[in-house]
Amino acid sequence: MTRHVVARVGDVPPGSRVLVTLDGREIGVFNVDGEFFAVRNRCPHQAGPLCEGILTRPVSSTRPGEYAFTEEGGILRCPWHQWEFDLATGRSWCDPDRVRVRSYPVVVERGGADVRVPGPYTAETFPVAVEDEYVVVDLGGRLPS
Ligand code: FES
Repeated sequence: MTRHVVARVGDVPPGSRVLVTLDGREIGVFNVDGEFFAVRNRCPHQAGPLCEGILTRPVSSTRPGEYAFTEEGGILRCPWHQWEFDLATGRSWCDPDRVRVRSYPVVVERGGADVRVPGPYTAETFPVAVEDEYVVVDLGGRLPS
């Protein structure tokens, strides 16, 4: 099984992140204005703890000396040498065709039959009312390039 429930939506408010370990891989799950992204906590440069870095916005400029942060998207800056990565694609900001961090699809699903955490034991089960949404990371999925 490659799908993992990692948090309740309310536990990862906009602008925040959680670090989780899934199948032995440390992964950061980010909420950027209600949109969720997941990337491996291992910088492709020198394996720094990428997900501990600053989360910022892409910068646009129409002419030298003027710039503005865009309203959409998330850029994650590695705390070791400040390489930057687009959270939506995992691509490096400076060399997007050659350098990227592994990223994973994230969906928000209502709790229910498809959102379970498997375990080694079986217990007697009872009906449960579902009231929250959950953040689910798919380690087997690929993001569109
Ligand atoms: S290890 Fe991340 S920029 Fe160098």
